[in-house]
Amino acid sequence: MGSAAASPLSGAKRPRLTFLGTGYLGATYAICFAEMGYRVIGFDVDVDKIARLANGTLPFHEPGLENLLRRNLAAGRLQFSTNLAQIAEFGDVHFICVGTPQQADGMGADLSYVEAAVTGLSQNLTRKALIVGKSTVPVGTVEWVEQLVSKNAPADLGIEVAWSPEFLQEGFAVDDVLRPNRIVIGVKTEWAKDMLHATHKGVLDLAAAEGRTVPLMVTDFATAELVKVAANAFLATKISFINAMAEVCEVAGGDVVQLAQAIGYDPRIGNRFLQAGVGFGGGCLPKDIRAFQARAQELGVGDALRFLHEVDLINLRCRPRVMRLAAELLGRRSGPAGPDLSGTRIAVLGATFKPNSDDVRDAPALAVAALLAKSGSDVRVYDPQGMENARMVQPKLTYAPTLNDAIRSADLVCVLTEWAEFRESDPYVLGTLVASRRVVDGRNCLDSARWMKAGWQYRGMGRS
Ligand code: UDX
Repeated sequence: MGSAAASPLSGAKRPRLTFLGTGYLGATYAICFAEMGYRVIGFDVDVDKIARLANGTLPFHEPGLENLLRRNLAAGRLQFSTNLAQIAEFGDVHFICVGTPQQADGMGADLSYVEAAVTGLSQNLTRKALIVGKSTVPVGTVEWVEQLVSKNAPADLGIEVAWSPEFLQEGFAVDDVLRPNRIVIGVKTEWAKDMLHATHKGVLDLAAAEGRTVPLMVTDFATAELVKVAANAFLATKISFINAMAEVCEVAGGDVVQLAQAIGYDPRIGNRFLQAGVGFGGGCLPKDIRAFQARAQELGVGDALRFLHEVDLINLRCRPRVMRLAAELLGRRSGPAGPDLSGTRIAVLGATFKPNSDDVRDAPALAVAALLAKSGSDVRVYDPQGMENARMVQPKLTYAPTLNDAIRSADLVCVLTEWAEFRESDPYVLGTLVASRRVVDGRNCLDSARWMKAGWQYRGMGRS
């Protein structure tokens, strides 16, 4: 977009928006809606986080977002607050963006943050407003939110509830808010529909100004809730499908990269999300497919989603498969308890669950690094953005400040997150630093021919 002042939206009458929960989701939405000309307050109970955001510092890595944060703070459209009464008075539309992590003692989603946010907000409301859920929740949650609202807000205010799922991909989140490929709104009344239409007018106008259209689907509550989990279940299934093919290729002597390319030419299949490797991680796909299964069981349709259990298992099997490749390259035998890698030094390149993110939640790379260290290897981990978070999750691992430091004197290099820094590194130069030229390409992201030409023993995932 151009400057905020040149936004196609500035000056237009828009609902005032609040976003409860300024984690990855809420902060991104709050900032991007301010960028589209709306007046916005981001709310959180975390005083430090709010202070940092109010000072123009983003508490996580997301390309392009910090500039927008600063620009919209300066323009006065964007504020941050820990005061519920202030946001209750301010907002026409309140978005619930708090986390819904996996329950500590089960597969279902923990809705305690949703409960706290909705209850606190409802108790402070003094005028009619719309509460819109964005967090990923089990189907049926909206009715429960409606009950929470009617228990806690004065009935004569006529507070309404709606659901509008988000589809943000880390690393592309700014564009995913400003230029979404669809908007889904689950509503019960015309008023709620009109409010959400006005709320998304900025997105629709921007699309029109750029000659695009954005489908806006109006659904019932259950469909809106299910769209999100169904989308993530499908993406996870696609990734596990290709990783299952990789397992077969490994024993049959095929090449899963060529296989994916060949099936992807069929437009019914498509070539996206067919990258075989060490599997999916992050704050969404793993927990969402588990919560979806748990909810289906509660609803008595557990059988319908039993395949998601298999999707999860295939995904988790990718990690020991990297171990086996590592042991094979290092000439170590794998026993029932895994290989003994003592006396070896391994460089692990990548800790985040994907590139262009500092997120290490459920990151396959970090999990494999821990497995390699547990097998006795002297592991050095390097990641361009995720080191700080990785240290918090795996404090016992050894971290190297640069790529070169990580690989110096290594007997084996494992590339486990496909950062550009690794993909574009020169195998000839790297070859002069290591003790032995052996590489496991856990994301099939390296130019294998070039690496082999530079004298490296190369193993990819599902490649003969
Ligand atoms: C995902 C969804 O894409 C997004 O729509 C939803 O809102 C949140 O969950 P995100 O978690 O940011 O987004 O990551 P995504 O890009 O989907 O990747 C998820 C994981 O799958 C990553 O670990 C990635 O490395 C892995 N992946 C992706 C593969 O292993 N192979 C692929 O082909 C694609």
